[in-house]
Amino acid sequence: MVDEAANVLPGSFPMVGGDGDYSYAKNSSFQRMIIDAAKEMISESIFDKLDLKSLGFDDTCGTFKLADFGCSVGPNTFIAVQNIIEAVQTKYRADHQDNHQNSSSALEFQVFFNDHYGNDFNTLFQTMPPSRKYFAFGVPGSFHGRLFPKSSLHFANSSSSLNWLSKISKEILDSRSPAWNKGSIICSGLVKGVSEAYSAQFKNDTEAFLNARAHELVPGGLIVFVLFSLPNGVPMIDSNGGKLYGFLGSCLIDMTTKGLIDEEKVDSFNIPLYFPTAEELKAIIERNGCFRIERMDKLPDPPLMRLKPSPESVTSQIRAVFEGVVKEHFGYDLVDKIFNFFTAKFAENFIFGELIKDHNNVNLFVLLKRVIN
Ligand SMILES: C[S@@+](CC[C@H](N)C(=O)[O-])C[C@H]1O[C@@H](n2cnc3c(N)ncnc32)[C@H](O)[C@@H]1O
Repeated sequence: MVDEAANVLPGSFPMVGGDGDYSYAKNSSFQRMIIDAAKEMISESIFDKLDLKSLGFDDTCGTFKLADFGCSVGPNTFIAVQNIIEAVQTKYRADHQDNHQNSSSALEFQVFFNDHYGNDFNTLFQTMPPSRKYFAFGVPGSFHGRLFPKSSLHFANSSSSLNWLSKISKEILDSRSPAWNKGSIICSGLVKGVSEAYSAQFKNDTEAFLNARAHELVPGGLIVFVLFSLPNGVPMIDSNGGKLYGFLGSCLIDMTTKGLIDEEKVDSFNIPLYFPTAEELKAIIERNGCFRIERMDKLPDPPLMRLKPSPESVTSQIRAVFEGVVKEHFGYDLVDKIFNFFTAKFAENFIFGELIKDHNNVNLFVLLKRVIN
């Protein structure tokens, strides 16, 4: 039975598809750095914590089933999946060192690529690495609901995706509520009511994600995810992500002053992203109780200066991610104007080095094991 939550469309804002100038495929080098930074921790985690024998992979061949939740289009998802497959093969070889007939080629891999229905699955499949050694499937739908049959996955991965909320809570948009987010498009961390509303939504969404995966993963199966988090006591507006998205907000406010956008329209625009603290996330996982936290670590900081951050390239990276939300809220006709404004203001005001100097984001690596309960 498919859970109805998997079919809910609101809150679905996939990244820019295709291979054009603003496409996610061409503008996701930052997220790629995070996948690269996680490679070693994934290998170690699989080597130490994946018990292939108890999952039923003995000396005969078997099919290892893994899914990438929030895959977008390539190339990042292909790199993440390849890193996992290589680590599982290494583990399998180590388990069968004394048996030359059973090399890792005895293992076959089935890979499920998940994202929202509106994701550009055509580009995803058209750009799959020709040399891949796995069987590929697309699984459309929200990862906040059930997407797979019971106990059908051995491994779940998710990179830079679990920060996305399924929706903006009503109070954030209500001028009579202490959670009204007037004058800001993010959870800046400066208004208690706003932070509480965003945090509650993140908690609901993460619980929904864990509950769905708890059904889908076999006992002993692993989840690895990487997400943006904040050090304790640091408001999102002081993180580099927060500063950059807050800068987009300041462009929108400037555009209202110039009469280019209605103020009300800007007040009702909120980016559905939340950066939890590690403690907040830990509490959600522990309360859920279906998974044991095997590892929760800060990733090494990505070498951001390698991004060659011209105003145009920063705009393209931001646009590849947020064009969908911006278009949905402000309409197609304003999209170019908003992002052109962003480029121009960035060129005048923003120094990338300053942005990343005190960069307060933590890219958090989390490894969970499905416990038998
Ligand atoms: C920043 S992209 C990350 C893509 C890729 N994992 C990477 O590391 O480059 C976030 C992706 O998560 C997807 N996403 C967000 N919420 C989702 C949900 N509830 N269900 C499925 N996909 C979701 C978005 O559509 C988007 O493709």
